[in-house]
Amino acid sequence: MQSLADFTRSVQSAGPRTAVVLGSGQSTVLADLTETASLSFADVPGLPLPSVQGHSGRIVLGYSGQTPLLIFQGRVHFYEGHTWEKVAGPVRLAADLGIKTLLLTNAAGGIHPSLEPGSMMILRDHLFWQRPDAWQGPTPSGCPNLRGERPSPYSPRLVQVLKEAGRSIGEELLDGIYAAVTGPSYETPAEIRALRTAGADAVGMSTAYECETARSLGVEVAAISAITNKGAGLSEGTLDHHDVLHIMAGIRQRLGRLIAGFVERVGS
Ligand code: HPA
Repeated sequence: MQSLADFTRSVQSAGPRTAVVLGSGQSTVLADLTETASLSFADVPGLPLPSVQGHSGRIVLGYSGQTPLLIFQGRVHFYEGHTWEKVAGPVRLAADLGIKTLLLTNAAGGIHPSLEPGSMMILRDHLFWQRPDAWQGPTPSGCPNLRGERPSPYSPRLVQVLKEAGRSIGEELLDGIYAAVTGPSYETPAEIRALRTAGADAVGMSTAYECETARSLGVEVAAISAITNKGAGLSEGTLDHHDVLHIMAGIRQRLGRLIAGFVERVGS
């Protein structure tokens, strides 16, 4: 692995415009990635190492086909005890390194009836309900506070790109609403019913703040949830993080092909 200065030089000469932040158990989904340089989160001042199993804490510069790409293998979460500023650290670093298009992936619980474990959902919008002052969060550049309604922070253009990438691997993907909750506890069945009534199709503990931060920095954002379980009360049995990682292992290959298809279409 390189120092931050060497890694930055490598990134400057390759000139990637697209970055992917990979969620729980997803670090190795890009099977055909050609790695040219890497950096540990530990070597970036202010970026904590992820403590959650399944998040490796490495930043990789590589090529997917002909396209240069930055991959963040793992993220840090608010529930690990980090401030929101630290949660947004990888996204700020990506923007500093010249990234213009960001794909965020996560593991999530399915609430929409068609979201079975093993399926994938494109994020069309989110309910950012992770903190009381959520609506005082970063505001998209060009969208000042208190000036009327706020559009979805997820790019409609990139939703279509993900749909096409899905079709190219034989999947018709649902585009839905992601509810971001603080965690680390999973929800109660009553909370899942409440989220459903509020319009959520999937629930997870990441992504929304990173998305909002990226938008505030002028970065176009897309996101995918890998559904690892049905929301609490929607299926038999109880849920833990090991089940999430186990189901992730089964989705990995399809998720990798979807990401590669996205990157190819977005281009450099
Ligand atoms: N709830 C919240 N976060 C999650 C879930 C869930 O059911 N599954 C994976 N991440």
